[in-house]
Amino acid sequence: MFFVRILALESSCDETAAAVIEDGRKILSNVVATQIEIHKEYGGVVPEIASRLHTESILSVTKKALADADMTLSEVDAIAVTYAPGLVGPLLVGVNFAKALALRENKPLIPVHHLRGHIAANYLTHPDLKPPFLCLVVSGGNTQIVRVKDYTDFEILGQTRDDAAGEAFDKAARVLGLPYPGGAKLDELAKGGDKTAYALPIPNIPGYDFSFSGLKTAVINLAHHAKQVGEELDAPSLAASFCGTVASILSQKFYAAAKETGDEILAVAGGVSANSFLRSALLRGAKRRGKYLYLPELSLCGDNAAMIGAQAYYEYQSGVRGDMMLNAVPYLPLDEKDFLG
Ligand code: KG4
Repeated sequence: MFFVRILALESSCDETAAAVIEDGRKILSNVVATQIEIHKEYGGVVPEIASRLHTESILSVTKKALADADMTLSEVDAIAVTYAPGLVGPLLVGVNFAKALALRENKPLIPVHHLRGHIAANYLTHPDLKPPFLCLVVSGGNTQIVRVKDYTDFEILGQTRDDAAGEAFDKAARVLGLPYPGGAKLDELAKGGDKTAYALPIPNIPGYDFSFSGLKTAVINLAHHAKQVGEELDAPSLAASFCGTVASILSQKFYAAAKETGDEILAVAGGVSANSFLRSALLRGAKRRGKYLYLPELSLCGDNAAMIGAQAYYEYQSGVRGDMMLNAVPYLPLDEKDFLG
């Protein structure tokens, strides 16, 4: 039996990651070195610091991924790397490192779009999941409803017009005094609150687009107002109201889109898909409508290289190859390709 084993690298933001994935579905190794403790001090990711930290750890993370998979570099069939979208300096570290490995070993180089990777995290969790399906992509930099027509064929039905859901979570968390990245901590805090305590604004955006900046500003204004008048905020209930409102906006739009496309198979992807309020709202919605919803396991919701290796397998099968001209591309819709930047 012949397997395709891909060494995948990810460095688009603040995690340096490497993984070895077999046939797009089986994790042979998955190593993530997070920089969160360093960026926390600044309240967000500092791109220059992120680039330097990626440079420092990419070699050891890659060596560990190969060792954990019990493989040598010459035994892998291809090298995959996230080339877009993300912070350009951090992306360049991964892209240049991957090019060097591919050149040295004379292996195919496979450029992978980060958001396609997030969607592919579901293939690792659910061996039976196959396109077509409708996917809600909710990460730190993006919020989109995407029709996955085939493994490498996507259609964006709607997206945020301003802040991404994750960005709104992080800003709301910051104003409540939680350290960066606050999304997961806000979720924790919210579990002890009453989600009906604060009435937050629901944006009125047509179609399947989203807007989260008004909601984020409402939380910031509530916190500032309370401080000015010396009132104590019920932080767990404000966190719960925020989580509940975001979950209901996302879930309502997603199911409206699913009704129109007629998709029975649904999935969710990205860092915010770890949110407990969103997971329950989406599961309730799926049950009510008799749809089947796939959720990535919690450890694969955030940035990792395993998901890049999963998507890389399908890109590889469809003939996608990068060469030594491959560039890092900071902004790129997931239904497009631009290897030269
Ligand atoms: O997908 P991701 O790891 O990075 C990008 O590709 O952008 O997403 C990171 C985002 C951050 O904004 C983080 O606060 C948010 O996902 N996040 C959460 C939770 N866990 C992570 N947001 C809400 N609830 C969570 N449990």
